[in-house]
Amino acid sequence: MLHAPKGLDGIVVTTTQISKIDGQAGKLIYRGYDIAQLAGNVPFEAVAHLLWRGRLPSPDELKSLKNKLAENRYVPNNVMAFLETAPRDANPLSILRTAVSIAGLHSSENLPALETGLILTAQFPTILAMYHRSRRRERLVLPRGDLDHASNYLYMLSGIPPKEAHARALDSYFTLLADHSLNASTFAARVATSTLTDVYSAIIAAVCTLKGPLHGGAPTEVWEMLQEIGEPLRAERWLNERVEKGERIMGFGHRIYRTEDPRSRILKSIAKQIANPKTFELASTVEAKARKILQARHPERALDTNVEFYSSLVLNAVGIPSDMFTATFASARVVGWTAHIIEQLSDNRLIRPSAEYVGPEGLSLTS
Ligand code: ACO
Repeated sequence: MLHAPKGLDGIVVTTTQISKIDGQAGKLIYRGYDIAQLAGNVPFEAVAHLLWRGRLPSPDELKSLKNKLAENRYVPNNVMAFLETAPRDANPLSILRTAVSIAGLHSSENLPALETGLILTAQFPTILAMYHRSRRRERLVLPRGDLDHASNYLYMLSGIPPKEAHARALDSYFTLLADHSLNASTFAARVATSTLTDVYSAIIAAVCTLKGPLHGGAPTEVWEMLQEIGEPLRAERWLNERVEKGERIMGFGHRIYRTEDPRSRILKSIAKQIANPKTFELASTVEAKARKILQARHPERALDTNVEFYSSLVLNAVGIPSDMFTATFASARVVGWTAHIIEQLSDNRLIRPSAEYVGPEGLSLTS
């Protein structure tokens, strides 16, 4: 039997028409379009249509999708009851996981995958904003049907309509994070789907997988690192100490990219426009110093910033609390999970790889 590389590194397990990563060139393509063309130029809702249906929407189709998302923003009463009584110090990803599970109990599990994915895409920001305001004992803010997806999320979090620049920044962030081929959470969603479980269950599997710090859990840690370093002059020493202890620098490195993550490049330019200039200067210094330190330690592979590094600056600048960064990431990625669930169902076979047994054999109870 062939040994699979640890972590399935480099193993192709399926075909997909949804997105393509060119790790050498540092490119990410959604259904034929470079993300650099999409982010900021077409609304996130149009990108959702592209990923789900394989093409950009006509103006009427876009209007109809925006309306459907707006109509589905309210969450079931039992989810509201949970959000209002949930522990105030819970991880928002755990809140999301449980809220999706409760929502699934009160919804039909037999809807087409696209419909369930659309409902969850509409409801993720509501779940997060309602939980956030509830844990702070603030007046709950109902969703507004006249606002687009990104603006409505920021509005529900703060209670005031967002600045145009912030809404556009979050819209671009949502586009950039919407899909990324067979990342760990998407793979989890596809594995669950291959058993013909329901879409709620597959999305919960994905949310749980995204929670880990080696995947989606990094931006909060990036933000904490920047707070701890505090000023550019302290960066080099802090980073060296960290690496010498054998610890990882969050927001650096990627399984597929052998150059800069293209999403990081775009998020850096957004961060430059909207983040606090001092924070941006600190982050740029940390980036330059960390790259040098990691290059010296690992000359065999490029360890550049990944999507999480500048995400933390963008999300902070638009007003998202740092412990909600990963859950906000999930609000974008639910679009990709849905697209992959639809694709898996369109030509399904149970995903069931093998393992090479290396344990003892031939033991006997009598010897
Ligand atoms: N800091 C320090 N060293 C690192 C880092 C890092 N950020 N990333 C990789 N390395 C080192 C490892 O310590 C390892 O060194 P060793 O061989 O001496 O033990 C070597 O590079 C290879 O590491 P792997 O874990 O095998 O690389 P892999 O491709 O599996 O990991 C990953 C990719 C998990 C993203 C890794 O780079 C990492 O842990 N980064 C920090 C966490 C992070 O930013 N996660 C977000 C990823 S983006 C996303 O999922 C949306």
